[in-house]
Amino acid sequence: MFALPRRTVLIGAAVAPIAACNTNTGELTAPPTTTAPGQVLAATADIPVGSGKVVDDTVISQPKAGQFEAFAARCTHAGCKLPAVTDGVLNCPCHGSQFGLDGAVLRGPAVTPLAPVAVKVQGGEIVAG
Ligand code: FES
Repeated sequence: MFALPRRTVLIGAAVAPIAACNTNTGELTAPPTTTAPGQVLAATADIPVGSGKVVDDTVISQPKAGQFEAFAARCTHAGCKLPAVTDGVLNCPCHGSQFGLDGAVLRGPAVTPLAPVAVKVQGGEIVAG
């Protein structure tokens, strides 16, 4: 009879619940953003038109001139940090999901858009809240 070594069984038991969490729905809720209302996130001049910038835990985009949007910079698949906007796309380094400047999923495995973050423009600054 085949018997698994005790160590293998213990490691397998410890890892299984984590894997189940990631594969039950294929989606995890992104952690809340850490921006505080009134916090200055960036100067409008620092956000290129047709692109965006990741500032701490927030990605700020400017899809069209003067239209600013912000999202949690966390992939909605398993919560990896989205490091940057490249050629108008946010690429997740963990499993390859891609998000557009409007937070929409362009490529999975993520299926849920990025979580929006409320921002407003005050003078030449983008402010949380
Ligand atoms: S965490 Fe899996 S694709 Fe981003």
